[in-house]
Amino acid sequence: MSDSPISHHSGETGVQPAVEGGGDASSEQKVQMEQAYAQMRRKMRMSQLDEEIKHKVMVLSGKGGVGKSTVSVGLALSLARQGKKVGLMDIDITGPNIPKMLGLDNADLHVEDGQIFPVIGPHGVKVISMAFLIEDPDKPVIWRGPIKLGAIQQFIGDVAWGELDALIIDFPPGTSDEPLTVSQSLPGIDGVVIVTTPQEVALLDSRKSINFAKTISLPCLGVVENMSGYTIRGTTEPNTKISILGPAGTPIETQTDENGDWGITLDVFKSGGGKSAAIELEVPFLGALPFDPGIVRGGDDGVHRIIAEPDGPTAEAFDNVVRNVLNELENSSRPSVRIS
Ligand SMILES: Nc1ncnc2c1ncn2[C@@H]1O[C@H](COP(=O)(O)OP(=O)(O)O)[C@@H](O)[C@H]1O
Ligand SMILES: [Mg+2]
Repeated sequence: MSDSPISHHSGETGVQPAVEGGGDASSEQKVQMEQAYAQMRRKMRMSQLDEEIKHKVMVLSGKGGVGKSTVSVGLALSLARQGKKVGLMDIDITGPNIPKMLGLDNADLHVEDGQIFPVIGPHGVKVISMAFLIEDPDKPVIWRGPIKLGAIQQFIGDVAWGELDALIIDFPPGTSDEPLTVSQSLPGIDGVVIVTTPQEVALLDSRKSINFAKTISLPCLGVVENMSGYTIRGTTEPNTKISILGPAGTPIETQTDENGDWGITLDVFKSGGGKSAAIELEVPFLGALPFDPGIVRGGDDGVHRIIAEPDGPTAEAFDNVVRNVLNELENSSRPSVRIS
């Protein structure tokens, strides 16, 4: 690629030789040629990405704050600790927080030959975030729409992922511009995982996301219910009855096991919103993730719960969701259209 006539062009350095009179037409032609060339190169890169990356999954939600980024990171880590080669792409330009969740906020991207090399996170997860491009993380970045979407397209085309089993893509909350741009630029996306919370409004939010997936012709791989129930545990006499007062003052009863251990799951918000949304909207239910204060801590100190407590209930719940996602990926027939 480097031996193309364009890359030898002095325009690479941003210094154009001054052309006296009559040079306009040819410089215009040059610009057009450069644009056409850049477009062609991008198309080639995109189809290469399609071949190198086995599965591409977009993570979406109807609204912000439901744990979409937490779930994206969790899916990536859970897949990676099973030995899969995983990439994680954070498209959130205005408030990228994935690097922070993985303790990578001081990382720098390595750029060579016009290619961007991802930062390597825990379990070898390759991470690309718009955050790596921002000089001052405390300054909010304001991008005008078209510039932002153009940057995303370029960004996607320029990343050297290498061979991957799965690429997880996280988006900013709210607008559908970014997922639309990604779905149009990156060929062969397998589908969309929708994150929701247990409340009844989840149905409304999930319906929005499912309809959105339909409008961009992507399969919905299913719904994940996040912040579902909070489990408290304790130990006392073996094989005895335990009664505690639940959130609404209602007694909840359970029994200790032969070791005296007990656990009760409290429905902090209500429960089952994600599951009933999945049933009603006729998409797979991928599982529930517990409400876990350790996730909030992990988000702040950069050690995800899966890393801090690899055998804990949250890690286990992520593994279960990943199992279901992999099942859906195996079952869903992916369109074989390739960009040529
Ligand atoms: N299962 C969970 N248990 C407890 N806190 C959670 C859970 N999932 C997410 N959070 C917390 O909720 C907040 C929002 O999560 P985040 O992943 O940033 O959401 P989004 O990307 O949808 O805006 C964060 O502080 C995060 O730590
Ligand atoms: Mg987020």
